Amino acid sequence: MDRWDWVRTASAITLAIGVAGGSSWFATQLVNSDYPGQPSYKPAGLGAPIDLAQLQRSWPSGLSTPGDDNRLSGYMSAVAKGTAPHPAPAGPVAAAPALPPPDLGTLLASADAAKGKATARVCVSCHSFQQGGANGIGPNLWAIVGRTVGREPGFAYSQALAVQQGSWSYERLDHWLMSPARAVPGNKMGFAGIRNPQDRANVLAYLGQLGAAPTPFPAPQPATVAAGGGAAKPGR
Ligand code: HEC
Repeated sequence: MDRWDWVRTASAITLAIGVAGGSSWFATQLVNSDYPGQPSYKPAGLGAPIDLAQLQRSWPSGLSTPGDDNRLSGYMSAVAKGTAPHPAPAGPVAAAPALPPPDLGTLLASADAAKGKATARVCVSCHSFQQGGANGIGPNLWAIVGRTVGREPGFAYSQALAVQQGSWSYERLDHWLMSPARAVPGNKMGFAGIRNPQDRANVLAYLGQLGAAPTPFPAPQPATVAAGGGAAKPGR
């Protein structure tokens, strides 16, 4: 080995020691040596009691950002280790009885038929809405409110729908559109349903306009009229 070999070897060793020392210093920064086992980095807000009941009530919008997720899981593990206060007990709000969902009449009184028409775009791959429109995968839906269930001429209904009695009221259609498969088991309408009650009411308001004369809405139930502030809108 000549002199330069020695210099190169020495520099390599110095560098290796430096890297090892540097990473060891860095690693100690990550752990909290005063409180072993805990990260020294703490997400913002950790340690403040979280009202879990409040969080549960607002789920899932209460955890809207990934930061909130981290904050909650950081808090929960800190509670488990006893380094953060326990969750705040549910306040008096949790004890308050839940309001009953608004009845269909109330929802229809404030329904928006234009929005319903937009929502009903999901139906047009199978249904036509115009007067005299052709049956497609599903029957034509002109004047469907008040029409006899499962009797549109020229459409081959499933046995399940063909044996139904009576006609389509708003309530019956609401039930059907919430989940066709549950409303009439064994029917062949390949559509999961519309979960949101107001979205459904909007579609019903639109369907109610399809016909020679719009079908009047059912009256809102008195108990919910006061809460919703809506009055019965006769006619439309
Ligand atoms: C994938 C196709 C498809 C979609 C999408 C669809 N339907 Fe249907 N629908 C059908 C079929 C098929 C039937 C007949 C079911 C049977 O005979 O069992 C039907 C039946 C109906 C009936 C009963 C008609 C009658 O004459 O009794 C109504 C009401 C109805 N659909 C409304 C809707 C509405 C409103 C939408 C959109 C929100 C919709 N459907 C979306 C295929 C569909």
